[in-house]
Amino acid sequence: MEIIKNVKGTHDIFGEETNAYERVEAMMKSIAELYAYNGVRPPVLEYNSVFVRGVGESSDIVRKEMYTFPDKGDRLLTLRPEFTAGIMRLVVQNKLYATNELPLKLYYVGPVFRYERPQLGRYRQFNQFGVESIGHNSPMNDVEVIVLAYTILCSLGLEGVTIKINTLGDEESRNNYRTALKEYFKNHIDNMCVDCKSRYELNPLRILDCKVPEDRPIIDGAPQIGDYLSDASKARFEQVQDALATLQIPYEIDKGLVRGLDYYSETVFEFHYVSKTGANYGAIGAGGHYGKLMQELGGPELPGVGFSFGIERIVSVLKDDNLLEDTKNELDAYVMPLGEEALLVSEEIAVYLRNSGGYKVDLCFDKTKLGNMFKRASAKHAKFAVIIGEEEMNNDSVIVKNLSSQEQITVKVDELIDKFDELLTKEETQE
Ligand code: HAM
Repeated sequence: MEIIKNVKGTHDIFGEETNAYERVEAMMKSIAELYAYNGVRPPVLEYNSVFVRGVGESSDIVRKEMYTFPDKGDRLLTLRPEFTAGIMRLVVQNKLYATNELPLKLYYVGPVFRYERPQLGRYRQFNQFGVESIGHNSPMNDVEVIVLAYTILCSLGLEGVTIKINTLGDEESRNNYRTALKEYFKNHIDNMCVDCKSRYELNPLRILDCKVPEDRPIIDGAPQIGDYLSDASKARFEQVQDALATLQIPYEIDKGLVRGLDYYSETVFEFHYVSKTGANYGAIGAGGHYGKLMQELGGPELPGVGFSFGIERIVSVLKDDNLLEDTKNELDAYVMPLGEEALLVSEEIAVYLRNSGGYKVDLCFDKTKLGNMFKRASAKHAKFAVIIGEEEMNNDSVIVKNLSSQEQITVKVDELIDKFDELLTKEETQE
């Protein structure tokens, strides 16, 4: 029968790669916890309106990329294309903002779904790790989020990450800028792509995200947000830059950085890294400040700031640069029953070593030669073999063989855990 393949744009994670994802995610979580963040797990499924209102009707994500469908009860649902809007829905619905302990600091990890054209570093289902710090307007909140993201990337071993920052200003700044963009594009829009024509009507700022090469020269000549900033937004952006400089966080100002989601205001940023292979996976993470998202979702007017990393892209650059530690899953012991009669005792011994000794243990279920079992033990990177035959069963004992030195001893079952502790400690001190 024909085999069924995975859905286009998705990918299977297995073997050593699973360990790489888990270690990268564990490192991200542990550093977020150092910065006083707590984990949240919003559902993958949300009502479509969470993202239409949250991410914004003029964004490419909402216009073209969402997996949206009616369920059997005719509710219009969407597989989350990002976390931030869903987290804000969670915060508003559960009134998590009703505390004196603001900002609320939340981290998350999990899959997100976007109907994009699959290519290098671009999937339709991918994983994000991110944080949101909600409820405080201090520019220092933006700074802390950037410092956290940068610290995580450095801790993973990435040297030379580029942090691009810009400001989109407050509402007044963006209104003035939108008017200037409308005025500028008025004379060009007839010669631009169909997407830009609808962006012109919905939100001219989104024209700046257009990737069509023929439109680029027109876009490159457009006015820049920096010339339309209110005094308050200018001062805020300067405070962010001063703090980053004081904390010795390297950054570049990218005046063309506008981000593709509609909820942003004030500080926005992206993290870029080119691996030694030169492969370009796109931004490895990005984020920014959002002033009105909570209000858009029916809550009070409290701002937030956050970032999300693309875990696939980060694992790819770590792999390219040989920065993934040895991710082999080593076994402490591989249990080998000599003959069918020894299988049950072997299972008992394996369970005993795992549950009472805390050892990582596997055993052979097959009727096979001892030589084959040794081959399997070595393929599984086992440190010791535990061999059980008729004689051992009669004497309540097992043979323990060190698979690197080849030394072997017979051990009574009731002394097995103590002996294992001793042997493994010796092995570790020798490594
Ligand atoms: P974003 O820029 O849409 O922002 O996505 C964040 C990161 O997810 C990107 O920098 C990239 O590494 C990764 N990414 C995006 N699309 C794909 C894809 N198709 N395949 C693989 N990786 C991808 C957000 O999602 C915002 N929620 C970030 C944020 C948090 N802003 C404030 N708080």
